[in-house]
Amino acid sequence: MNVRYIPVAEPFLGTEEVEYVLSALSKRAISGLYGEYIDKFEAGFAAYSDCSCGVATSSGTTALHLAVASLGIGPGDEVLVSSFTNMASFFAVLYQGARPVPVDIEPDTWNINPSLIEQKIVPKTRAIMVVHIYGHPVDMDPVLEIAKKHNLYVIEDCAEAHGALYKGQKVGSLGDIGCFSFYANKIITTGEGGMITTDNVALANKARSLRSLAFGTDNKFMHEDIGYNYRLTNLQAAVGYAQLGKIDEIIERKRKVAQYYNENLRDVPGLQLPVEKDYGRNVYWMYHVVLHRDFGFPRDVVMKKLKDYGIETRESFVPYNQQQIFISKGWVKDDECPKANYVAENGFYIPSSPSLEEDELAFIVDRIKLIQKGVR
Ligand SMILES: Cc1ncc(COP(=O)(O)O)c(C=O)c1O
Repeated sequence: MNVRYIPVAEPFLGTEEVEYVLSALSKRAISGLYGEYIDKFEAGFAAYSDCSCGVATSSGTTALHLAVASLGIGPGDEVLVSSFTNMASFFAVLYQGARPVPVDIEPDTWNINPSLIEQKIVPKTRAIMVVHIYGHPVDMDPVLEIAKKHNLYVIEDCAEAHGALYKGQKVGSLGDIGCFSFYANKIITTGEGGMITTDNVALANKARSLRSLAFGTDNKFMHEDIGYNYRLTNLQAAVGYAQLGKIDEIIERKRKVAQYYNENLRDVPGLQLPVEKDYGRNVYWMYHVVLHRDFGFPRDVVMKKLKDYGIETRESFVPYNQQQIFISKGWVKDDECPKANYVAENGFYIPSSPSLEEDELAFIVDRIKLIQKGVR
């Protein structure tokens, strides 16, 4: 029985978030320049991600932009980016006047395919941006090896993968710089927000400066660079710090939701489920599936039927190479990343909130099976 409309994601909030925000308010520490929670959240999240430095930002997108800018990437440079991602990954490179180059994905993890990277490297290439998509870690060893061989930076887009592990190590600590998002539907949230993680103190300092208008040190208003206002407020950091106390519970709940789906959807014909490679821990940010021909119905029909049952779903990302704004400029060809295109056309994700109850999960599974059997 469906008791309510089931959204794809709901934030997992408690009383601590309210308490910390009220405390920040009562101290009138509301901006992004002052307040104990900014420091606490940065230090706590960096430590959680096995890094020595954390730089909080106003969003995941601004974290990515600061990462690219702080690495000194600019006009004339190229950055290789996993094609199948939120366009923020690509926009961050474009904001710097550099050119992103899409690399196709693996058909099972939907992450960048390391074996396709080297053929796209040219003298202008400066960095590889990997994206731990939907919470599954990228196979980092081959990526890091290629980066070392060609002297490239590695930027990790960890917007969807807080706490994910690669060979026991946290994402965000594997490359030169990691970028997280705390948007409302992320593993932990500040409403809007982001964070850079790195062990490179000089890089963190550069990002910290650019984040806040690159104010001068002796005279604040003698600026050191063309900076941005990408600050996270102390109010948002208060929410983030409270969320950090819940992150392990949230991930455990996400993994339980995924386990339920894995066990109960595995026999549905034509339904490809997410994987968990033996090199990592998937945090299942969203439970993303791909429909193949033998499911019997195309993706958009299935999404519509689920919506009629009160179950929200969301289609997969449209790859960079399929975005008309870039095709029309002649920067990319539609068929450049066929694996990403296939997933984009046949994939979607189903409700994945950490608060989902077993009767709701059973309802979702049951409706997917009914649809596949053509009962409705
Ligand atoms: C892979 C990826 N990168 C970047 C972003 C951008 O983060 P934000 O929405 O916080 O700007 C998102 C999500 O929103 C994302 O999923």
